[in-house]
Amino acid sequence: MLTSAEIRQQFLDFFASKGHKIVPSAPIVLKNDPTLLFTNAGMNQFKDIFLGLQQPAAVRVADTQKCLRVSGKHNDLEEVGVDTYHHTMFEMLGNWSFGDYFKPEAIAWSWELLTNIYHVDKERLYVTVFEGDATEGLPEDVEAHTEWSKWIAPEKILPGNKKDNFWEMGDTGPCGPCTEIHIDCRTDAERLTIDGKTLVNKDHPQVIEIWNNVFIQYNRLKNGKLEPLPAKHVDTGMGLERLVRVIQNKTSNYDTDIFTPTITLTEQITHRKYNNTQSKQDIAFRVIADHIRAIAFTIADGQLPSNSGAGYVVRRILRRAVRYYFSYLQYKQPLLFQLIPALAKQFNHVFPELQQQVDFVVKVIKEEEEAFLRTLDKGLKKMDELIEQAKKTIHTTIDGKSAFELFDTFGFPIDLTKLIAVENNLQVDDKGFEAEMQLQKNRSRAAGTIDADDWVILQPHAFTEFIGYDTLSIETKIVQYRKVTAKGKQAYQVVLNATPFYAESGGQVGDTGWLTIANETIAVTDTRKENNVFIQFTETLPAQLNEPVIASINIPRRKAIMAHHTATHLLHAALRKVLGTHVAQKGSLVNEAYLRFDFSHFAKLTDKELENITALVNEKIRENIPVVVQTMKKEDALKMGAMALFGEKYGDEVRVVIIDPSYSVELCGGTHVGSTGELGIFAIQHETAVAAGVRRIEAVCGIAAEQWMQQQLHTLQEAKTLLKNPKDLLKAIEQHLEENALLKKQVAYLELKQIEQIQEQLLQQADTVNHTHFIGKLLDVMQPDILKKLCFQLKNQLTGNYVVVLAANISGKPHVAVLLSETMVTEKKWDANQLIKQHIAPIIKGSGGGQKTLATAGGQDASNLHNIFQTIQSLL
Ligand code: ALA
Repeated sequence: MLTSAEIRQQFLDFFASKGHKIVPSAPIVLKNDPTLLFTNAGMNQFKDIFLGLQQPAAVRVADTQKCLRVSGKHNDLEEVGVDTYHHTMFEMLGNWSFGDYFKPEAIAWSWELLTNIYHVDKERLYVTVFEGDATEGLPEDVEAHTEWSKWIAPEKILPGNKKDNFWEMGDTGPCGPCTEIHIDCRTDAERLTIDGKTLVNKDHPQVIEIWNNVFIQYNRLKNGKLEPLPAKHVDTGMGLERLVRVIQNKTSNYDTDIFTPTITLTEQITHRKYNNTQSKQDIAFRVIADHIRAIAFTIADGQLPSNSGAGYVVRRILRRAVRYYFSYLQYKQPLLFQLIPALAKQFNHVFPELQQQVDFVVKVIKEEEEAFLRTLDKGLKKMDELIEQAKKTIHTTIDGKSAFELFDTFGFPIDLTKLIAVENNLQVDDKGFEAEMQLQKNRSRAAGTIDADDWVILQPHAFTEFIGYDTLSIETKIVQYRKVTAKGKQAYQVVLNATPFYAESGGQVGDTGWLTIANETIAVTDTRKENNVFIQFTETLPAQLNEPVIASINIPRRKAIMAHHTATHLLHAALRKVLGTHVAQKGSLVNEAYLRFDFSHFAKLTDKELENITALVNEKIRENIPVVVQTMKKEDALKMGAMALFGEKYGDEVRVVIIDPSYSVELCGGTHVGSTGELGIFAIQHETAVAAGVRRIEAVCGIAAEQWMQQQLHTLQEAKTLLKNPKDLLKAIEQHLEENALLKKQVAYLELKQIEQIQEQLLQQADTVNHTHFIGKLLDVMQPDILKKLCFQLKNQLTGNYVVVLAANISGKPHVAVLLSETMVTEKKWDANQLIKQHIAPIIKGSGGGQKTLATAGGQDASNLHNIFQTIQSLL
């Protein structure tokens, strides 16, 4: 039997033999596409080539792509584990033609591969062809039909509607008619009873689609219209997991060698058996075997679980898996992390990024599991209560508030709550949940979503050339622009033919600067990249859009940014030298003010380590090492020991930044200084934790470092002055702290003594007014709360009806406390709170309140303080 590894390799070999260049999978986590969080199809990384915005490196390409379909247009999460052929993460085998071959070749080759190489039974294959769509004005795909007729019996070519046979990547973007290949895996007996063609696209678990050939010809615009593309392309996708199932002759994807190692290991850990049924226990096995891959590979590609955006998708998947093993495998401690080392080994030959960071990924997953397990049990109990309640009251819906409480207090993602609800024949009030979510404003950090109009094209098929590594100002032309609304504010995005503006990427912020057209200058506020298009942000549009434009960046700002970027490389290398080579970059921000660097490491850095790291970076600065930038083949760079980032997409030719080949070699697209001396000096400001196994350093160099150090020195000088310039500042501070602690103790002791003394005196001086004990006294105390403390003491000593009014003038400010016996409140209907508010506050020009038996006030005017006793006495 062919292994999954062999099946994958045969696909790639086959297309290589047809002149395709084999490229690596793009990262599963997307960084430069605001319309998608994760790669959800093999074609994502080629989007700009289809749109004519980027030139392809080769016109025929094939690969296996890590994909995730749990958010956006393509979302299979609910089916995963319940059925046997949907997945969160899956591998999509694909072949592409960029304006090269079209339908005849694509169709012939997919037939050849399936039937001649993989020897799939021809009798079991069906194909669907787009039938056309009148509302969109799209014709029937006659050509695909004709091509298929050369290979397959006419009754096996089925018409398909827009839903199934017109493929779109999202709400906007490249799209076109497609032809799908389906396979009937039922037994011969079953096939005789019902004709396979009636089961195509009917969600039958044994009659499944395995390959989709899309003929990309249009761009779906934001206004819903289809715009023909400049060239015609082929985009195909075949699910490896399904293909392997077919070739290994299994009835479930989970019975292939892709998933069985994980399932076996889960059996061993949980002491339970997987039986490929629809029992909850078996669903749990499948959910775990599926989800673990999505979780592990997204984390390996740099996406840590978090509370928003892509990170929250990872967290949701992980929590769904935890709930399944907790409830249905009766396993009550972290499980997923135990499966990672074997998974990493299994995929090492195709996706080595997991094995390379296995300890880190294990640590992150274990901590996530532990955190969720802490609240899961309580959350499930809460959920049981809600279900009981709903059943009792014949409700069919769990209200939004409760769903939100489960989310907020117990960490239940809404889809987990829904899942459990559905298991109990209940629904969840989505809208109510959303409304609650909105209320909690701090969570609705909508990641700066931008609402954009369609591009207005001034110059078709123009590419942006980035010339900003060495040219900071250039004369160019606007090729396209569009209006956008971000956070309710209107702005513009402008694409230039050539640009000196660096677009935010690799942590380095985008350039700002100016565009000057026909004597009009407008400010560029930011620069970003969408896939490979450089986009300048402006607040206004120039009047003369077609005139030549001088584009120039803010040079002092860029210089400070470059210094911080070079400092980041020096820091990265220093971290690996001082802490060890397990240190890998997990995130970075480089701007004009500072640099922020996140990296994998398991402990807080000691002062000594921070000192050593700082010293090493400064040593490299003083060596004034030239920063050499070279473009070379990726293999050569890796041979040089270049550090590449996980989850970053690199081409064959890479840009390498070398700061002494024996010290720092990194693949990097950022901008750097000419030599390290330009950094001046480097200082670490903070070292903190950001997530499980991830530390963060914030640091400065150059002018920013100088300013920061000046500030530090200034603070130090002020401290010295305050302490009257002691010889040994630290010792002086320590002495002060000790003295202070001692004095506090003494004050507390004296206060206690004073309270006892005053209390004695007061008890002796009590008058009787109208059958009520009355104590009224202006006291000489230093703290207002002593009045209250005295009241508490007196309460324990006094009996019968009593009224106590204590006052003090503390540094010119009047303070009063009133204490009443319970009997005054219940029998005489007196109220200390009212007394304070109505009678005392006006006398002292103040305010206050409290309980019926005890209330206090503070005021501004102590001149009539003595009158309060008289006032209360006369009330008595
Ligand atoms: N882009 C096509 C798909 O994802 C091949 O199905």
